Amino acid sequence: MIASIDSPATAAPVRAGTNRGTPLISMRNITKSFGSVRALRGASVEVYPGEVVALVGDNGAGKSTFVKVMAGVHGFDSGDFEIDGKPAKINNPSDATALGIQTVYQDLSLCNNLDAVQNLFLGRELTGPGWFGRRIRRAECEVRAREVMTRMRLGNLSLSRPVGAMSGGQRQNIAIARSILWKPKLLILDEPTAALSHSAAEQVSNLIRTLAGEGLGIVVVSHDIHHFVVKSTDRIEVMRLGANTASFKSREVTGEQVVNAMVGGNESVNLAG
Ligand SMILES: Nc1ncnc2c1ncn2[C@@H]1O[C@H](COP(=O)(O)OP(=O)(O)OP(=O)(O)O)[C@@H](O)[C@H]1O
Ligand SMILES: [Mg+2]
Repeated sequence: MIASIDSPATAAPVRAGTNRGTPLISMRNITKSFGSVRALRGASVEVYPGEVVALVGDNGAGKSTFVKVMAGVHGFDSGDFEIDGKPAKINNPSDATALGIQTVYQDLSLCNNLDAVQNLFLGRELTGPGWFGRRIRRAECEVRAREVMTRMRLGNLSLSRPVGAMSGGQRQNIAIARSILWKPKLLILDEPTAALSHSAAEQVSNLIRTLAGEGLGIVVVSHDIHHFVVKSTDRIEVMRLGANTASFKSREVTGEQVVNAMVGGNESVNLAG
């Protein structure tokens, strides 16, 4: 398969609070049980092009389950799931990929002994005729990797060092670059700044804003409320016990208010309008 590095989304960026049109993704009242455990009890989220939406909540609130439903890893029991205003039929992760949804999980799924180019094109290398079957066109992969990294303002990253020798922030950026090669419309990031230094987390935040500026919708699960969520996202959905308990516009809220909503005492707040 020929990977492409074209712009990830064609839709013009639309900022939260403006005339937003049709959401890229709309999930309403999603329920999902694992046996007797009711992981999702009516969870909802909408994401528009160019918007960064944070999903926050205490441990066990249902965030990972919710994004796994979006990514086609789990099915759901009831609720409405639409992509671009049409009912979504997502039975597995490849259906989600085909609909423009890419996920970067917390473990990043990178091969530490391979370099950035090899990781970017893992499983979908550009190939050409060779003596022994098809050979990988390394030079072309490198050119394309350099193009996508430059577009993502990651031009300084080494393409030839094993990613296992890179910092957490660099590895996170490479994992995001890898998902961008699939030209997603919606990017889901699970804890992208966990365990990163302040400056590395800031680089990842900048990358997220750059991608949103190109029209990508981004869902980000994060516990990093004070340094990341309130500063780098547009909207915050707070989950508790598998449902939404509060919704905020990030620029109008403090970290303390978000944390209060996560731990209780602020029932059903909606300040996002
Ligand atoms: N595969 C599974 N089988 C059974 N129960 C599960 C499964 N996945 C999640 N759960 C349960 O569903 C609930 C929600 O879990 P989930 O992982 O979605 O929470 P979370 O908000 O991501 O938490 P954390 O912040 O700790 O990552 C928990 O009670 C969890 O034990
Ligand atoms: Mg989780």
